[in-house]
Amino acid sequence: MHRLTVFNDAGGGVDAIQRDLGHIFELRIVPLSLLQDTAPGQFQVFDVNLSDGARVDEIKKWLKHRPSGSKVVFAIDKTSRAERIQAYALGATDIVHRPVGGRALLKLLLGDFNSLSLDTSVPPLRFFPATGPVLSAMENAFSSACLGAPIDLDSVHAAGDVLVQCIESQGLGSWIGNVRRHHSRTYQHSLIVTGVAVAFGQNLGFSAQDRENLAFAGILHDIGKARIPLSILEKPGSLDADEMAIMRKHAEYGFDALAPVPGISKDILDMVVHHHEYLDGSGYPHGLKADEISDLVRIITISDIFSALIERRSYRRPMSGEDAYQKLLELGSKLDTELVREFQFAAGLTVASPEWGPPIYSEIVNRSEPRL
Ligand SMILES: [Fe+2]
Ligand SMILES: [Fe+2]
Repeated sequence: MHRLTVFNDAGGGVDAIQRDLGHIFELRIVPLSLLQDTAPGQFQVFDVNLSDGARVDEIKKWLKHRPSGSKVVFAIDKTSRAERIQAYALGATDIVHRPVGGRALLKLLLGDFNSLSLDTSVPPLRFFPATGPVLSAMENAFSSACLGAPIDLDSVHAAGDVLVQCIESQGLGSWIGNVRRHHSRTYQHSLIVTGVAVAFGQNLGFSAQDRENLAFAGILHDIGKARIPLSILEKPGSLDADEMAIMRKHAEYGFDALAPVPGISKDILDMVVHHHEYLDGSGYPHGLKADEISDLVRIITISDIFSALIERRSYRRPMSGEDAYQKLLELGSKLDTELVREFQFAAGLTVASPEWGPPIYSEIVNRSEPRL
């Protein structure tokens, strides 16, 4: 667990920080008088009085020794321009307004992965009973991957079980309907891939163990995106060649994050690192060919592409199920054509599309290939 040091002597409360971030960081709340006894780390927050010139000098000197790439967040009063200027002059990477909310801080420290439920214009995903545990498991896993902290496999397994039951009892359409009400991108994508892959496995008559593996891999397949800069991950429009090269690293980053986890199965690792491989050898990261790509990987790949196509993206409308399936067919020998044929029934294309609802975002045009 990474350490987050909060220097606090401005009288601001730290309850919200402790409540929201206590399980993610090793938290230390330190009075500014102990600054010199504390080593700068990757994450620090200053909620201190910046009107004292001597203290400001002290902070400035201390921050010179901070590790490169570290985060320094200053809490300021919303109305104080002087504090804002002072904070940035000291080297703030971000500022946050008092009173400091734990979730706002988390967003600044870790990026957008944890901001899923902050949008109050839509019902939070956790209001739907079956999606709650899956979302929590995913949030925690992404936060851990982001921080290089251990990933809690048990919660992912438990979430996978819930999801398998949900798909069995309520069907894929209702799962996608629930997930679609939410605004997130990476999480929404992974949630839909998971549902689609589990429904696919169910349709193919896979064992409970294999369906759970598919759920597990669906939840975690893009976990390597936790290490991709948000400027690339969330870029509206096409990625250039350099950005695409960075984006493609997510498959190996995912493997790196999961490989050291005790008890992780080879099948899961295989699905995570190879979900962008194509049978004709044109995929990445290893350019595997037909026989080198397992059935489970093929299933995740098909589910991944289909899900990306039916999702809303900032740069295009969501496709209907039928159009997305057509795109799968167009990929020809890149995918396992027999599995693609089977997939038609798994996704219930003839009935499911209307359930998923019409595209609700009309501002968008298709400008680039789906970002999977
Ligand atoms: Fe991916
Ligand atoms: Fe994906």
